[in-house]
Amino acid sequence: MNIFLPFLSVLSVLWALSAAQAADKATYEGFKVCAKCHDLQAEAWQATSHAKAFDILKPGQRAEAKVKAKVDPNKDYTADPGCLGCHTTGYGEPGGYDPAMPPAQAKALAGVGCESCHGPGSQFKKEHGDAEGRFKKGGATTDRKVLVEAGQTFDYEKACVKCHGVGTNKPGSPFNALVDPKYAFEFDKAVRTTGKGKGVHDHFKLIGVFSGQPVHRLRAEFQSTAKEGAE
Ligand code: HEC
Ligand code: HEC
Ligand code: HEC
Ligand code: HEC
Repeated sequence: MNIFLPFLSVLSVLWALSAAQAADKATYEGFKVCAKCHDLQAEAWQATSHAKAFDILKPGQRAEAKVKAKVDPNKDYTADPGCLGCHTTGYGEPGGYDPAMPPAQAKALAGVGCESCHGPGSQFKKEHGDAEGRFKKGGATTDRKVLVEAGQTFDYEKACVKCHGVGTNKPGSPFNALVDPKYAFEFDKAVRTTGKGKGVHDHFKLIGVFSGQPVHRLRAEFQSTAKEGAE
C-alpha cells in the first residue's frame, strides 16, 4: 500500500472541515455594497486619505517620504505582498483584495475601505437591511449582538492598530515612528480626525435602528456633531 494514502485522507478530511467553517465565515465585498445604503458615508470616505491609500504605492507617489523611509520611489509596489496588507481591504482573507482579481472588483477593495474598520460585510450587510425593515414597520430595534455574530466589528482601535501599530512600535510599515515621530499612532487623536485628507469619514446622524452593546465609547461624541441626512 502506498504509505501516503492514510496521510492524504487525513488531509482531505481537514480540508473538508476548513471548507465547512469557511462557508460560515463572513467575506469581504468591497465598498460599493455599503455605498448602496450609506451613500453619504461613502462619499465622505472617498475624501479621506484611506480611500486613496492604494495609489501611493505607485512609482513617483510620495517620493520624498519614500526616500526618507528607504523605500524605492521609482518602484511599483502595487502588487507587492509586503505592502498590500495595509494599503488594500482584506488582502489575504476570503473575498479580500487580490491583484489577480478582475479590475472592477479590485477597484472596490483597493485602499483602506469600509470593511477594514467595520469588518467583512457579506453577512452583516443583510442584517442592516432586515433591521431597517423591522424598524420602519413597527419601530422595533435590533440588538447589536446580531451584528457581532454576522462579523461586524466595533473595536475600532484594534482595527486601526493592525495597520498603524501603537506608539513607536514598528508594525511592519516602513513609515513608522522610528523613521519619523509624526507616524506614531494615538487612537483617541486619530479617530477624531474626520474629513478631507484625514483618517475617518464625516459622521451622519443615525435614526437608531440598532440598540444594545457593543457601542463605541465615543459614539455619543461623534453623533453630537454628526451631519443630518443619512436616511
Ligand atoms: C503594517 C502595515 C503597513 C505595511 C506593511 C505598509 N504600510 Fe505603508 N503605511 C501604513 C500606514 C499606517 C501609513 C500611514 C502612516 C501615517 O501617516 O501615520 C502608511 C503610509 C505610507 C505612505 C505615505 C507616507 C507619507 O508620509 O506620505 C506610503 C508612500 C506607503 N505607506 C507605502 C508603502 C509601501 C511601498 C509599502 C511596502 C514596501 C508599505 N507602505 C507597507 C501601513 C503599512
Ligand atoms: C478608518 C476606519 C473607517 C473606515 C475606512 C470607514 N469607517 Fe465608518 N466609522 C468609523 C468610525 C470610527 C465610526 C464611528 C463609530 C461609532 O460612532 O460608533 C464609523 C461610523 C460609521 C457609521 C455610523 C454613522 C456615522 O456616520 O458615524 C456608518 C453607517 C459607517 N461608519 C459606514 C461606513 C462606510 C459605508 C464606509 C465605507 C464607504 C466606512 N464607514 C468606512 C470608521 C471607519
Ligand atoms: C488596512 C490598514 C489600515 C487601517 C485598518 C487603518 N488605517 Fe489609517 N492609514 C492607513 C494607511 C496606509 C494610511 C496612509 C494614507 C496616506 O498617507 O495617504 C493611513 C492614514 C491614516 C491617517 C492620516 C495620517 C495623516 O496625517 O496623513 C489617519 C489619521 C489614520 N490613518 C487613522 C486611522 C484610524 C483612526 C483607524 C481606525 C479607526 C485607521 N486609520 C485604520 C492604513 C490603515
Ligand atoms: C440594505 C442597506 C444597507 C447595507 C447594504 C449596509 N447597511 Fe449599514 N446600516 C443600514 C441601516 C438602515 C443602518 C441603521 C442606521 C440608523 O440607525 O440610522 C445601518 C447601520 C450601520 C452602522 C451603524 C451600526 C450601529 O452601531 O448602530 C454601520 C457602522 C454600518 N451600517 C456600516 C455598514 C457597512 C460597512 C456596510 C457594507 C459592508 C453596510 N453598513 C451595508 C443599512 C445598510
